[in-house]
Amino acid sequence: MSNNWKTPSSEILAQGTVVPVLVFNKLEDALPVSEALLEGGIKVLEVTLRTECAIDAIALLSEKLPEAVTGAGTIITPEQYSAVEAAGGQFGISPGLTPNLLTAANKGTMPLIPGISSISEMMTGIEHGYDCFKFFPAEAAGGVPMLKSIAGPCPQIKFCPTGGISPSNYLNYLKLPNVACVGGSWLVPQDAVAAGDFKKITELAKAAVEGAQSAK
Ligand code: 3PG
Repeated sequence: MSNNWKTPSSEILAQGTVVPVLVFNKLEDALPVSEALLEGGIKVLEVTLRTECAIDAIALLSEKLPEAVTGAGTIITPEQYSAVEAAGGQFGISPGLTPNLLTAANKGTMPLIPGISSISEMMTGIEHGYDCFKFFPAEAAGGVPMLKSIAGPCPQIKFCPTGGISPSNYLNYLKLPNVACVGGSWLVPQDAVAAGDFKKITELAKAAVEGAQSAK
């Protein structure tokens, strides 16, 4: 099965070794938080569809920050995939996968990185032509040993693990040959956003990017 994507999902993952999982409670947070991340060396932004302003945030960031690669996280349905595509999102990430969602995304122009936590889910994705997946929830679903095991039979499949990733374990993931990047919410603490402490976000981004350079 093939797709009509403008960019392969592997190219999206290659542009950001550390991907912030963003939850914007207020639209006005989107720009300063994203600018702080860009200043810290992070340009792939995953805006989760968990808050009311998420689609507006994706549209805003796509328009105002062309140097960033803005996409959506928490895509569950084909309708959400289409809404992100219409808002100018450059990629979609989902926590899991369904044949319905995989088929819909193959018909669209925006790359989808579906989530898996088992070999059978990965095989369903492969059947639909996918070779890049989110591994979620990474720590709870077997972490580094699970990804090492998957690399045995399927070394060509690449992952973005998220869920339970932190400064203390992200390098263990990035060292794996089948891990293209890692994602996590630790880069943007909600208390820093609420306090308008965007400097803190830049510092966290810089530290994460510098550490990642040593792992890859
Ligand atoms: C998600 O998609 O919610 C991410 O996996 C975030 O997980 P984290 O909060 O453990 O980083």
